[in-house]
Amino acid sequence: MNIIYTYFRKPFSSAMKVFESINAVREHTHSLKNQQLRLGFVPTMGALHQGHLSLVRRAAQENDMVAVSIFVNPIQFNNPDDLDKYPRNIGADLELLNPLLREDDFVFVPSVSEIYPSAETHTYDFGDLATVMEGRYRPGHFNGVGIVVNRLFRIVEPGTAYFGEKDFQQLAIVRRLLGIEELPIEIVPCEIIREPDGLAMSSRNVRLTEEHRKAAPLIYQTLKNASAMTGSSDPGQLKQYITATLNQPGKLEVEYVEFADETTLTPVSNWSQAEKIRCFIAVQAGAVRLIDNIRV
Ligand code: PAJ
Repeated sequence: MNIIYTYFRKPFSSAMKVFESINAVREHTHSLKNQQLRLGFVPTMGALHQGHLSLVRRAAQENDMVAVSIFVNPIQFNNPDDLDKYPRNIGADLELLNPLLREDDFVFVPSVSEIYPSAETHTYDFGDLATVMEGRYRPGHFNGVGIVVNRLFRIVEPGTAYFGEKDFQQLAIVRRLLGIEELPIEIVPCEIIREPDGLAMSSRNVRLTEEHRKAAPLIYQTLKNASAMTGSSDPGQLKQYITATLNQPGKLEVEYVEFADETTLTPVSNWSQAEKIRCFIAVQAGAVRLIDNIRV
């Protein structure tokens, strides 16, 4: 069933489809899959920005058909206040997607009861991937991500799915999930899209106060400076430098900063411990929690 939002009363150049039921998605994809079309999938929680849209553009370039899901997944929020205040604006989201999507492309906008008809109790074992960094500070978060991504994958049945490196640890979790669930889906990592001042785009940025928005670009600047200092400092020293530079009472407060192996996400204490190392950070900016990462 197509949902007709008030928004759709405006004339459109393309015929983007919007489905809210699993059955509608399956009916649509199955008829097209019989023609062996490549389906690319971009799962999101909405409040779309250019970071999300870069994934959608790439999916459109590389596939015959694109699916975008917009679902604020309650079970991945470890903080009820964060779920409550998570920005939601489906009308604006569809407006942003419309110029990028083609006739057979579609947006899946399910309700909570469509995705979770009954309480969800499954527990994944993601091993150490889920105990470091975001996993440590957001207990249950990756289990909730695993459950919803598995469910969405089984509904949409894409050949390829697009995920942003902004949530680098999530990418590793999703790869592990595919192994656990034995799902034959290709994962395409997409680079972080930033504001002109360097702040990584995030749906939560709209919740920053003017003062915290002004302070936030310092996060990426400091990560960049630190990544240029690896010749003269070890990871421990750089963690201290980053924390001391960013911590400003009432403005920015570092929750964790970690240098870790890009593949295993195991923290390193010297540069020879891994071939590819990334610096990962979470910072509290007033009421808003921001994450970022950079290759060093
Ligand atoms: P959400 O935060 O809406 O992000 C959806 C996708 O957009 C993720 O793959 C994320 O990494 C990517 N993204 C967000 N900001 C980005 C940026 N600045 N540059 C590049 N990519 C960016 O991640 C989720 O939703 C959820 O956990 C989800 C996977 C949908 C499961 O609920």
